[in-house]
Amino acid sequence: MLIAQISDTHILAPGSDHPAADSRAADLEACVADINGLRPDAVILTGDTVQHGGPLEYARLHGLLAPLEAPLYLIPGNRDHGSAMRRAFSELAYLPENGEFLHYAIEDHPLRLVGLDSTLPGERKGFFCAARQTWLDQTLASAAERPTLLFIHHPPFDVEDHYVGGYRRPEEAEALAAIVTGHPQVLRLTCGHVHCATERQWAGSVATTMPSVAVDVRKGVDESIARQRPIYLLHRLTEAGELVSELRALPETAAAAEPVAAQ
Ligand SMILES: [Fe+2]
Repeated sequence: MLIAQISDTHILAPGSDHPAADSRAADLEACVADINGLRPDAVILTGDTVQHGGPLEYARLHGLLAPLEAPLYLIPGNRDHGSAMRRAFSELAYLPENGEFLHYAIEDHPLRLVGLDSTLPGERKGFFCAARQTWLDQTLASAAERPTLLFIHHPPFDVEDHYVGGYRRPEEAEALAAIVTGHPQVLRLTCGHVHCATERQWAGSVATTMPSVAVDVRKGVDESIARQRPIYLLHRLTEAGELVSELRALPETAAAAEPVAAQ
C-alpha cells in the first residue's frame, strides 16, 4: 500500500495580492500531478490547507485537489476553518457532518488511517482535550490488530527551536504519547504544522514531520535538500508489514517567493 502525504499548502484566494498566491497553487498542482503518476492508494493532507480559512481559498483548494485519482483524507490545521472546510469538501463522506471535531478512522485499506483534529477555532496551538483522548483511545482499541497510520496537524513534541510547547497544555501532549504507547499497532505518527522534515522515536513508535508543499513557507532542515522544489512525503507499507517513508522532491515550479514565517 502506498500513501502520499501533502501538508501545509496554505492556499490563497485567486487574485490575492500575496506574493506567493500563485506559487503555492503551482507547487500543489505539481504535487498532485506527480502523485497521480505514482498511483497511490490514498492521499492525506495534514492541515493548514488554506491561509485564512475563507470560502474562496477553499474553492481554489478544491479545484487544485480535484484531479487526484486516489481517495483524499483531510484534517484541519490552525489556519483552517472547520465548517468552511466541511462545506467545500461536502462530498467527502468520512468527514463528520456535525460535532466539534473533524476526525475519523478509515477502514478501507490494509493500513488503517486515523486522522485526529488537534485544532481549536481561533487558536494557533494544538489541543488534545479529554473528549479527544477518549475518542483516540477507543478508536485505537477498536482495531488493536490493524497496523495504523495516525496523522495530526500539530506535533506533540518540540521541533528544533522554532516549535516549542506546541500544545497549549503540555499535559495533553503527554496524554497523547501515553495513549499511543498503549496501542503498539500505531506504526507511525505523521504531522504537519512545522514546515520542516524531522523524524524521531516517539511513544514506542516513530513520529515524522514534513515540509510544507509550498516552498515560500518552508523551514529548517530540508533547505539543504531542495529549497525551491515542491516536496511531499510517501509512506509505503511493505509486504513484511513495515512502514517506509521518504520525501519526494519535484523540479522547481515557476515562481518561488522569499521565505515567510507561517505555521
Ligand atoms: Fe502551516
